[in-house]
Amino acid sequence: MNEPHKFQPSLSERLEGVGEYYFSRKLREIDELRAQGRRIISLGIGSPDMPPHPSVVQRLAEESARTTTHGYQSYKGAPALREAFVRWYGERFGVKLDANREVLPLIGSKEGIMHVCMTYLRAGDKVLIPNPGYPTYTSAVRLSGGEPVAYELSADGGWLPQLDMLPIEGVKMMIINYPHMPTGAVASLDDLRHVVDFCRTHRILLLNDNPYGFIRNACPVSVLQVEGASEVAMELNSLSKSHNMAGWRVGMLAADAERIAEIMRFKSNMDSGMFLPLQLAAATALSLGDEWYEAQNAEYRARERIGEAIFDALGLRYAPHQAGLFLWGELPQGETCYECCDRLLYEKGIFLTPGGIFGSAGERYMRLSLCASQQTLLEVLEIVKQQ
Ligand SMILES: Cc1ncc(COP(=O)(O)O)c(C=O)c1O
Repeated sequence: MNEPHKFQPSLSERLEGVGEYYFSRKLREIDELRAQGRRIISLGIGSPDMPPHPSVVQRLAEESARTTTHGYQSYKGAPALREAFVRWYGERFGVKLDANREVLPLIGSKEGIMHVCMTYLRAGDKVLIPNPGYPTYTSAVRLSGGEPVAYELSADGGWLPQLDMLPIEGVKMMIINYPHMPTGAVASLDDLRHVVDFCRTHRILLLNDNPYGFIRNACPVSVLQVEGASEVAMELNSLSKSHNMAGWRVGMLAADAERIAEIMRFKSNMDSGMFLPLQLAAATALSLGDEWYEAQNAEYRARERIGEAIFDALGLRYAPHQAGLFLWGELPQGETCYECCDRLLYEKGIFLTPGGIFGSAGERYMRLSLCASQQTLLEVLEIVKQQ
């Protein structure tokens, strides 16, 4: 209803071209359908449904029960967490970091994308962004005054950047994300070396967003394994997916000491540290051994097989060996991804993400989240098999 005298402050120009996050809109629609009594199974979002390791939850409970753990914390994170990140990168990637100067704990890696953009981008600075890619890259670049320049990825090119085709004029930064969301493509160390060389040659800051490294991925790699990479490259990581801790909001940035200090200049003006028990419990999570990753991956592999059967039933084609929390499949000719999404939602009560929300190069694709039990996925399989 129109209310003629309702106060409407003008919005900051920073919000121009930045819409409400697709998922927050679509989840509201799903809530409305549920409120009308419809059963909707959502295979949309990549929020792990399994809990963290019990030792992690126990550590949080124990540390929270102390009287001394409730105050403000250091802007640069608790030493125990920084040291745990350093051990994790050492053990899992063979990357040596200095706990005092080269890691920065974050309140989720999503906030890190914004921090990096706010620290380095001046009005009009161009940032190379993957298409398809995580929508936050575009929003964070726009919100911080930069100009996103999409680089197109394709199945034929292994969803890797075609470096000789990339523009370089006015480019300040390049964002890559391997293992890649939404396609599940992985980059080898050699692929990453080529990107680092490209950025070094053209004096471009490189940011690798690496939250899916340990999920359905035979060979986890870090861009910082490339010799001398930290001259131009930084890497974001996260406990959200690898340790089933998405709601805890724990991530990290690994970079050269000077970059960390520059980003701290921005970040220390934004938040006031993280709850100490949460940081200590995150340190416990980071010390889990191979059994943790193996058990998670065994479950995701079993889910993947059901996901593939769902895609078979829907006529979607998919590449083998996808990494991360999703299955990415190509639509047969005919329907657009948005039509497919709405048909499945309204007719079958199933939500899959239309690939087009990740950019124009995703428009012929659908994304299925493996963050649902095998039982739920089997139920979806039965529903999609009924024509
Ligand atoms: C590619 C990518 N980067 C970053 C994030 C954010 O992760 P975090 O929970 O650490 O903020 C996500 C979450 O979905 C993602 O898909």
